[in-house]
Amino acid sequence: MNTLLLDICFFFPVTLLFLIPEAATSWWYMGAVVSSSTSSRVMCNNIPGLVTHQRQLCQRYPEIMQVIGLGITEWTTECQYQFRNYRWNCNITERDQSLFGKLILRSSRESAFVYAISSAGIVFAITRACSQGELKSCSCDPMKKGISKDSRGNFAWGGCSDNIDYGLKFARKFVDAKERKGKDARALMNLHNNKVGRKAVKRFMKQECKCHGVSGSCTIRTCWVAIGDLRKSGDYLRRKYNGAIQVVMNQDGTGFTVANKIFKKPTTNDLVYFENSPDYCVRDRDVGSLGTAGRICNQTSRGMDSCEVMCCGRGYDTSRITRMVKCECKFHWCCSVRCKDCVESMDVHTCKAPKGVTWKEKTLSG
Ligand SMILES: *[C@@H]1O[C@H](CO)[C@@H](O)[C@H](O)[C@H]1NC(C)=O
Ligand SMILES: *[C@@H]1O[C@H](CO)[C@@H](O)[C@H](O)[C@H]1NC(C)=O
Repeated sequence: MNTLLLDICFFFPVTLLFLIPEAATSWWYMGAVVSSSTSSRVMCNNIPGLVTHQRQLCQRYPEIMQVIGLGITEWTTECQYQFRNYRWNCNITERDQSLFGKLILRSSRESAFVYAISSAGIVFAITRACSQGELKSCSCDPMKKGISKDSRGNFAWGGCSDNIDYGLKFARKFVDAKERKGKDARALMNLHNNKVGRKAVKRFMKQECKCHGVSGSCTIRTCWVAIGDLRKSGDYLRRKYNGAIQVVMNQDGTGFTVANKIFKKPTTNDLVYFENSPDYCVRDRDVGSLGTAGRICNQTSRGMDSCEVMCCGRGYDTSRITRMVKCECKFHWCCSVRCKDCVESMDVHTCKAPKGVTWKEKTLSG
């Protein structure tokens, strides 16, 4: 997360606790966790947004909390990368956290994505920390030992296999703890999307092997299992966002029914949502929309980042910016590349604010 938020969490944990409306709290806000000198009890009581069971896990596994806290930057960055060209751009660096908090309370497609990517991010962060020997409670996958067999024959497990089962299990315990509240539609939706996120990491686990033997003859093969990189899960979940399925809760509150019968029933690989999204054109706190005023748009694109779409037909301002770039680079024997500094100028287009809306934006309502 942004440094501002980290600073806030670091210096004013208690204040922050009161700034965020109770209903909108989430571990998403926990930011960097400092455990070095304080006792884990004190530390865990000062992290905003944890429910009781999460606080207990925090006290038992303070070092995992640090991993989760640092991991937040990673998945929010991934979220912003995936939506960089969209009106909704996963901007949670907003000073006003209540805005992102609103997203937690909604059940839109965007909310579905954020739950999924955050769950994926936690699995990822914990699993990696296990492999890197940063945690007392886990290490490389202990089951990947000895000799095994695949389609190419026998091989020996070697190196460090990522212990994704540990990451999955902890992520489920920690993230889902927030949602155990009976037959609540939103809880059901969040649990579902959390699971989609966790599975998205597992999906890209890969077995990697190395050959040994005379001139690479591969008489001995050692293999290990590795989690890919979060980008793969991010790309995958973005596609799932595009194909997310709108659902309604069953009569008996135990599952979902597809809102429109022409769509297939969601599997645990599909993101689900209840509410239609706002258009995200104008700033509206109640729906978690920052609006697109001031956003950079692309004059030649025909996609979501085009000025037409991004600015919602309000038009845009153009300003010319200049910057220094390296140019006329030449290779000199031996061995250096020397470049000149050139001034490059380019046009930057930014969306106009809505007319008449003189910051008459809706005020905080909860
Ligand atoms: C996020 O929103 C804030 C406040 O509206 C803005 O200052 C910042 O530039 C935005 N960041 C991105 C990446 O859009
Ligand atoms: C704008 O869009 C065009 C067409 O999609 C693309 O080739 C170009 O790289 C984009 N420019 C920027 C600055 O992103």
